[in-house]
Amino acid sequence: MKIELNQNKVYFNSGKEKREIHPFWLRERVNGEKFLDKGTQQRLFDPTFLNNDISIDKANINEKYLEIDFNDGVNSKLDIDKIAVEFASEDTVIKSIPKLKWDSSLENIKNFEYKENFFETKEMYDLLLSFYKYGFIIIKNIPTSENFIVKFANSIGSVRRTNFGEYFNVISKPDPNDLAYTSLSLAPHTDNPYRNPVPCIQLLHCIESNVSGGLSTLVDGFTVTEELKKNYFDLYKILTEVKVKFKFIDKDVVLESWAPLIELNEDKSFKQVRFSPRLDYVPILEKDKLDLYYKARKKLSEMYNSDKYRIEFKLFNKDLMMMDNHRLLHGRTSYETKEGNRFLQGCYIDYDSTEGKLRHLKRKFNL
Ligand SMILES: [Fe+2]
Repeated sequence: MKIELNQNKVYFNSGKEKREIHPFWLRERVNGEKFLDKGTQQRLFDPTFLNNDISIDKANINEKYLEIDFNDGVNSKLDIDKIAVEFASEDTVIKSIPKLKWDSSLENIKNFEYKENFFETKEMYDLLLSFYKYGFIIIKNIPTSENFIVKFANSIGSVRRTNFGEYFNVISKPDPNDLAYTSLSLAPHTDNPYRNPVPCIQLLHCIESNVSGGLSTLVDGFTVTEELKKNYFDLYKILTEVKVKFKFIDKDVVLESWAPLIELNEDKSFKQVRFSPRLDYVPILEKDKLDLYYKARKKLSEMYNSDKYRIEFKLFNKDLMMMDNHRLLHGRTSYETKEGNRFLQGCYIDYDSTEGKLRHLKRKFNL
């Protein structure tokens, strides 16, 4: 990648193609204390107020800087490395982390250990990297007093509050007085598909678990849907196309969202899965189309519920699991309440929290 100059025109040469850089694009990026706030790196001028006919009167280039006199009297030295970074047309930090597909054969999950000043350490950076690769991570030894989970969430970014509050308690008692406190198994699902937007990341913190069952289960929705695409393309396709209604009703709120079970990016790559078959309502489509849809949902459900893709593990006291609710499905195995208590606390954060922290730590440690 090279920046080149020829008769007051600036070019970007990638080795494969040479393209002229628009003078206005460069003018928008002028720096110096008159034009750019040192601390925030935000512009002190509004480029939409400039004339569109910006051109270059004079330019010089060396290894580090491109110095330009623009026709509106402004002179600026632009950092060539900074310009080069901008030639990527999409996120270069998060999207460059490869998603690693996994199934039940996944072994040696690396655990992280909580310690003082954890959120500003290189280990936190490694943790976030691992989170983006696998869609989940487990951290040991997280304090359990005073709803520490909220403090934890707010130390990465900001807790995503919902109508359930800042956090929720998943409590079981030997003598349950509410269905929420049952000890039944929970099939793999994603949380809150009826919200818009769906909470991105769920944190689950084990405060106390004295039961032998109640294992946490995880399934990689990315692995499963890529497999479905490979082997049953027509089933995959309809699940990416049909938008179904997810609905949740409570005393003072009615939450609804229309979305496909498998959502893709513009380039048809994986974006998000939603799966909560107790809450989804497919619209009345033609009978043939519904035939295919039901066949597809059943196949997807069989795969999500298959031993082939599921990992099971016990969350011990003080363990905190952080999982990608747009990528992974989670559940639990049943357990015996007479054995003792099982008490977990949960909350949500969104991608801006993890992405913001990851970019900050990358900058801080020069990685
Ligand atoms: Fe859940």
